[in-house]
Amino acid sequence: MTKVLYITAHPHDDTQSYSMAVGKAFIDTYKEKNTDHEVVHLDLYKENIPQIDVDVFSGWGKLQSGKGFDELSSEEKEKVARLGELVDQFVSFDKYIFVTPFWNFSFPPVMKAYIDAVSVAGKTFKYTAEGPVGLLTDKKALHIQARGGVYSEGPAADFEMGHRYLSIIMQFYGVPSFEGLFVEGHAAMPEKAQEIKENAIARAKDLAHTF
Ligand SMILES: Cc1cc2nc3c(=O)[nH]c(=O)nc-3n(C[C@H](O)[C@H](O)[C@H](O)COP(=O)(O)O)c2cc1C
Repeated sequence: MTKVLYITAHPHDDTQSYSMAVGKAFIDTYKEKNTDHEVVHLDLYKENIPQIDVDVFSGWGKLQSGKGFDELSSEEKEKVARLGELVDQFVSFDKYIFVTPFWNFSFPPVMKAYIDAVSVAGKTFKYTAEGPVGLLTDKKALHIQARGGVYSEGPAADFEMGHRYLSIIMQFYGVPSFEGLFVEGHAAMPEKAQEIKENAIARAKDLAHTF
């Protein structure tokens, strides 16, 4: 059965957020069309996503030096185990949909924490004599992102570092298909905001039929 991980990095729901509204239009349509697929929502603002901190480094260090998991402190155990759970969950899915707002030229920090959690040698990529090689070569991914200004073209294009960063991460993992669906310019052109949103929702519904 195809497994789809719907990963949202937004504190708001679809009633307040453009990204979440477009994400909902996409995933609702996708579910209607693919009733036999398993779709799981991973809400990064509600989940425990440990940062790589001093407990994680010391826990990893103990394991690398040959100590058993039982010899870790309770904080080390809890964080190291949760990070392992997150990457195992990630690799067990076939398709990923990331939904993020555009904040200060990128995505919210919890999304970076999640990327740090799932970027694990031997799980999402591996080291070889020729350099790192991605292991997720049979996956597919989509990034839905709302941006107040216009970044897909024009003078601000070089300032976009959220989708571009995620695109590099997907390449690093070997994911062969990664698309972007953007809602943009609604803050810069408030008179067109409703039209921009409706247009993005329509594109999301269309894409859900072929993704
Ligand atoms: C903390 C914060 C930072 C933002 N930074 C940018 C920015 O760098 N460029 C931009 O065009 N819009 C920026 N915006 C506007 C958002 O991109 C815009 O409101 C977008 O709709 C956010 O997605 P959402 O509707 O899903 O919340 C920012 C908004 C917030 C709250």
